[in-house]
Amino acid sequence: MLVPEPIEITESAVQQAVEAALAAVDAAADTAELKAARTAHAGEHSTLARLNASLREVPADRKAALGKLVGQARGRVSQAFAVREAALAEAENARRLAEEALDVTEVALPGRPGARHPLSLLQESIADVFVGMGWEVAEGPELESEWFNFDALNFDADHPARAMQDTFFVEPPEAHLVLRTHTSPVQVRALLERTPPVYVVAPGRVYRTDELDATHLPVFSQVEGIAVDRGLTMAHLRGTLEHFARAMFGEGARIRLRPNYFPFTEPSAEMDVWHPGAKGGPRWIEWGGCGMVNRNVLRSAGIDPDEYTGFAFGMGIERTLQFRYNLGDMRDFLEGDVRFSQQFGMVV
Ligand code: PHE
Repeated sequence: MLVPEPIEITESAVQQAVEAALAAVDAAADTAELKAARTAHAGEHSTLARLNASLREVPADRKAALGKLVGQARGRVSQAFAVREAALAEAENARRLAEEALDVTEVALPGRPGARHPLSLLQESIADVFVGMGWEVAEGPELESEWFNFDALNFDADHPARAMQDTFFVEPPEAHLVLRTHTSPVQVRALLERTPPVYVVAPGRVYRTDELDATHLPVFSQVEGIAVDRGLTMAHLRGTLEHFARAMFGEGARIRLRPNYFPFTEPSAEMDVWHPGAKGGPRWIEWGGCGMVNRNVLRSAGIDPDEYTGFAFGMGIERTLQFRYNLGDMRDFLEGDVRFSQQFGMVV
């Protein structure tokens, strides 16, 4: 360390150092500035420290007098720093307390609660309708093997639904995986896992390479129903669908079946629902597909088609939501805007 040059200790030198220090004390606006001033005017490189160090060089006969002079000066300065420090710290404390003050009597604004998505709510109330009739709720994977999605459902190898324009195939092709295009693979899964009688409803998400518009979503939900028992006929199918339709669209709802083709049901039908509360007046609305489970599907699941018969149906949940509430544009279902969800009530 560099030893500072001794300075001559004179009354005026001491006086000047004290005055400079006191001026700096007064000028310090906060404790940080005061700390810097202390280093400059009372620290080890300050004039006062150097004057103090210079006492060593003073002849013995003057040591007592000059020692007293420097000692008193340092005492005054350090006293001034201490007083100012206490005052500044107190002011800072008071300011912080004022800034952080909380009015505990203030009335809190209520936070806006969220709402569950109407599709989730509808999916659950659909499941409830069937649980009320003693059915089970089942699930299946959305990433499905091609065998469950098509083969086990009696689709020919060259059925157009397998083609690229409808199905999302998943790489690598050897894995034979698809994003399921309908919930019908759950029919086969449900039958493989159980022995008849089977009454299962399976709501879930499905995928098709459709363009997004007001009435089509590339990702949507269906609910599948399958019943396999001794002696089931289309009358059971019709009665079940009519009960379901009334639960969705009100007491005045009815079901109409029109002949159609699905590889996994025979006979097959397109079902329409009479919607008494439709916008613009009551009318028929296409609701989904249904039919008697094809004998080949029963066989794929190891069930003897001579002993058991079954019926199955599937419809879109978004479509059901759209007609139940007369909603214009399905794209609103995807936006995640809480103002949309809130219209359907605050059920949690
Ligand atoms: N899976 C068919 C579809 O997506 C609907 C359906 C289900 C038809 C069950 C008959 C029986 O169009």
